[in-house]
Amino acid sequence: MKSTQYVARQPDASGFIHYGEAEHQVWNTLITRQLKVVDGRACQEYLDGIEQLGLPHERIPQLDEVNRVLHKATGWRVARVPALIPFQTFFELLASRQFPVATFIRSPEELDYLQEPDIFHEIFGHCPLLTNPWFAEFTHTYGTLGLKATKEERVYLARLYWLTIEFGLVDTSQGRRIYGGGILSSPKETVYSLSGEPEHLPFDPIEAMRTPYRIDILQPLYYVLPELKHLFELAQQDIMGMVHQAMQMGLHAPKFPPKAA
Ligand SMILES: [Fe+2]
Repeated sequence: MKSTQYVARQPDASGFIHYGEAEHQVWNTLITRQLKVVDGRACQEYLDGIEQLGLPHERIPQLDEVNRVLHKATGWRVARVPALIPFQTFFELLASRQFPVATFIRSPEELDYLQEPDIFHEIFGHCPLLTNPWFAEFTHTYGTLGLKATKEERVYLARLYWLTIEFGLVDTSQGRRIYGGGILSSPKETVYSLSGEPEHLPFDPIEAMRTPYRIDILQPLYYVLPELKHLFELAQQDIMGMVHQAMQMGLHAPKFPPKAA
């Protein structure tokens, strides 16, 4: 695990998490700005989830508020975690239909980008689609497979996660749209991903597993699902068999420059 400057907030005796006024203000700035940017760019299932969640604009939501909606929709809930968690904990949570949420928000200095997933990324980026049964099923299957996987297999699974749940695009009757939460919580990447600048390829799970990525740059390549339901269908297939094929075939050459030392 890497280190972080952020510390997740703990709940009080009644389970309520207190944030400072400046932190609520960061949430307000982020959600107000991003709701405008995702309009016409996010897939309809995501926008339906945003509507169902009815997130507050003026304050950081409590996890219970999100849980009431998620639980009714798909049986999922969010789980409070520290700023960074080990892979093992991550897979255990997903396998029990719990999505990890670190209860801290980025500082105003890191408004546009931070390396750690904060509460805005997790709730605004991921929770809307966790109201969708197809997306929820895929995420759960992913967790159960990851829990049983070896360390080496998990690296291949992580690339599949990155290029779907975090950075996936999908074709819809309205045109090409975004479903990845890593994109949808970033104003810059939401615009850039559909700008025509980065490469788009039809989604192929084995190819995604073979694609190296960097977490600290805009993605040079996105994989496009034919429809969101494809994730549900993928969850019924032999994903670990695909991991083994990808391991045999090896990694693609990166499409990004090496990280500066
Ligand atoms: Fe994420």
